[in-house]
Amino acid sequence: MTNCLEIDDLDAVTVERILSNAMKWKMPDAAAPQVLAGKGVALVFEKPSARTRTSTEMAVATLGGHPIYIRPEEVGFDTRETVEDVGRTLASYTSVVAARTFSHDTLVRIAAVVEVPVINLLSDVAHPCQALADVLTLREHYGSVEGRRLVFVGDGNNVAASLAYACALTGLEFAISSPVGYELPELVVDRARNLGGSIETYIEPSDAVEGADAVYADVFTSMGQEEQRAQRIESFARYQVDSALMAMAKPSAVFMHCMPAHRGEEVAADVIDGPQSIIWSQAANRMDSVRALIAELLEGA
Ligand code: CP
Ligand code: NVA
Repeated sequence: MTNCLEIDDLDAVTVERILSNAMKWKMPDAAAPQVLAGKGVALVFEKPSARTRTSTEMAVATLGGHPIYIRPEEVGFDTRETVEDVGRTLASYTSVVAARTFSHDTLVRIAAVVEVPVINLLSDVAHPCQALADVLTLREHYGSVEGRRLVFVGDGNNVAASLAYACALTGLEFAISSPVGYELPELVVDRARNLGGSIETYIEPSDAVEGADAVYADVFTSMGQEEQRAQRIESFARYQVDSALMAMAKPSAVFMHCMPAHRGEEVAADVIDGPQSIIWSQAANRMDSVRALIAELLEGA
């Protein structure tokens, strides 16, 4: 059974097929295969979501299936019953179990006991569905991504880690600049390099963005880190993507953000709302990419 707990659960050929199908099925005259006809997908969210929940529900519906959104208090991971018991219960009615969890280990525990694909809808260490949409967006924008340079500015957290792997799998160069103490873990850098990726790490944003085809920002304070917010605002003060930083990238560079975004914190309003921003394509592509991912996990579409 193939899961997608992190994007490198898939190999480069599979990622390529998913991206191709995502592009194909978004054409007005194309229809996605009804691989979920008569079937359900469980979607458990321990944290809030606008894009992930809605895009995944629509992906399931347009594959002919029934999405079941489940709030954390309903299943009560390890409070009402064990994570394993919840996972097996949900898998007995559905064909895919997808979850957004605080701890990545919760997903690993579900995957260990169920016989349906498990999809990570964001954990503390990974956001593979976002990375898939982001590569799709760059591919649409540039025609192909091979040899393009994506520079992430900010926290070496879940979104950055999945992007590093996605870049490695698709031939994009990846660079990241983070404040000391918030770098991408060495294990992540090594894992991306082992996939054949070109990964550069920097402290100074201005050193990283030179030659960038895409400059990417995420929030300074992720969900679950709210009590660190004051410290993080201070630590990341020099990591706002503003027009001066964008001017150091290639003139043709695009600005990307997974959203939710905070104008005036990690990105200046004139950048995220300006002509270089492709955030709305990224957001829209969440549906197309997760739809192709689900089809692949079910059928090898
Ligand atoms: N980018 C993303 O995952 O957005 P949501 O938190 O709104 O799902
Ligand atoms: N790093 C952010 C991403 C949100 C989509 C978080 O984990 O909250």
